[in-house]
Amino acid sequence: MNILVIGGGGREHAIVDVLSRSKRTEKIYCAPGNAGIARQAECVPLKDTDVEGLLAFAKEHGIDLTVVGPEAALAAGIVNRFRAEGLAVFGHTQAATRIESSKEFAKQLMAEHDIPTAAYRAFNQYEDALEYVRNRPLPAVIKYDGLAAGKGVIIAQTMDEADAALRDMLLDARFGEGRVVIEDYLEGPEFSFMCFVNGDRVYPMPLAQDHKRAFDGDKGPNTGGMGAYTPLPFITAEDYEFALQHILEPAARAMVSEGCPLTGVLYGGLMKTKDGIRVIEFNARFGDPETEVVLPLLKTDAAEVFYAVATGGDVPELEWSDKPTVGVVMAANGYPAAYNKGFAIDVGSQYDGVLYHMGTRMEGGQLVTNGGRVLMAVSQADTLDEAREKVYKNIGHIRCDNLFYRHDI
Ligand code: AMP
Ligand code: GLY
Repeated sequence: MNILVIGGGGREHAIVDVLSRSKRTEKIYCAPGNAGIARQAECVPLKDTDVEGLLAFAKEHGIDLTVVGPEAALAAGIVNRFRAEGLAVFGHTQAATRIESSKEFAKQLMAEHDIPTAAYRAFNQYEDALEYVRNRPLPAVIKYDGLAAGKGVIIAQTMDEADAALRDMLLDARFGEGRVVIEDYLEGPEFSFMCFVNGDRVYPMPLAQDHKRAFDGDKGPNTGGMGAYTPLPFITAEDYEFALQHILEPAARAMVSEGCPLTGVLYGGLMKTKDGIRVIEFNARFGDPETEVVLPLLKTDAAEVFYAVATGGDVPELEWSDKPTVGVVMAANGYPAAYNKGFAIDVGSQYDGVLYHMGTRMEGGQLVTNGGRVLMAVSQADTLDEAREKVYKNIGHIRCDNLFYRHDI
């Protein structure tokens, strides 16, 4: 197969990497890709949301399978457009992507199908929303109902903070005209449960845990994710079965009954609370950085799996390695706020492991930083402790003046 991967981050590098090991793969293209991906695929300078440009490219180059990474491309309707032209594409339709892009759609779906999540109400009037918060225990979780680049969730500890967030979202329309979802605050460790889904058929992947805060000890602002590991010692076999049978599988069935079946990845952002496992959010795509520690464990031919999920064919039985895996993100100083690009990176020859590129490019023969999250070092070993030791040793071989990372993944 000729395969086109859409996106240009660490997640897409991991996807290209696993596809490059497939016997079914003839050639891989990646749009737009990055400097690391360019070693394993031919990069194409097209934006991930340039649906018409990507479609023309796929037709011209005889693409047999397109794999969509980023949510923005899915929300732009790339899957609908490719399918209308008879092309095989891994990813959800625009309607199905609402499970991620609309918090209210996701909450309603969970309420109607008895999927455990925090109690909530949705509002578009500032006064009504404030009144609701007044009558619930603090802290209040206030979420903008739409895509807000990870900045749309406020955990308000006081009424003043809740008031400010609601003014921001409903009166000043900071992210555009929209609604807010207000939900009860839950506590416990979070984890990511990703599954391949085609309609009501659900094929689970190993669990992983992300680290969303920028700095050690879960301090600092929320980021896209600063590192991940698998497996998860705090999740029991019962927790796993519960999550699969009462959350991921019913969610897939619910989407079928809503008329928008899933044909890609369903990502459950889950929390283990003292009352059981609850959904914090669903995503309609592979998680980043979780994918970089999970996909390397796939032993089954990835191109066959992706193609079968995309086309509704028979998905081969998935075989996974259970090797403990730890991945650490190296990010540009300043990230997730403003940061500079173009700093030289030297990956020492002693670096011994997988290095996924998240935001890099070549400049006159030199590898340089080109994003907020720049690199992700991934190591496997017989135990999590050993994998962690290995990954940090490898990071020590990377020279760059402008990168920071967490020491406690
Ligand atoms: P979301 O974008 O919905 O994943 O929310 C971002 C982050 O906010 C989550 O990863 C949680 O750490 C936190 N969060 C969201 N909803 C809740 C909740 N109901 N209770 C506690 N924390 C939450
Ligand atoms: N790692 C969180 C996400 O992909 O949304």
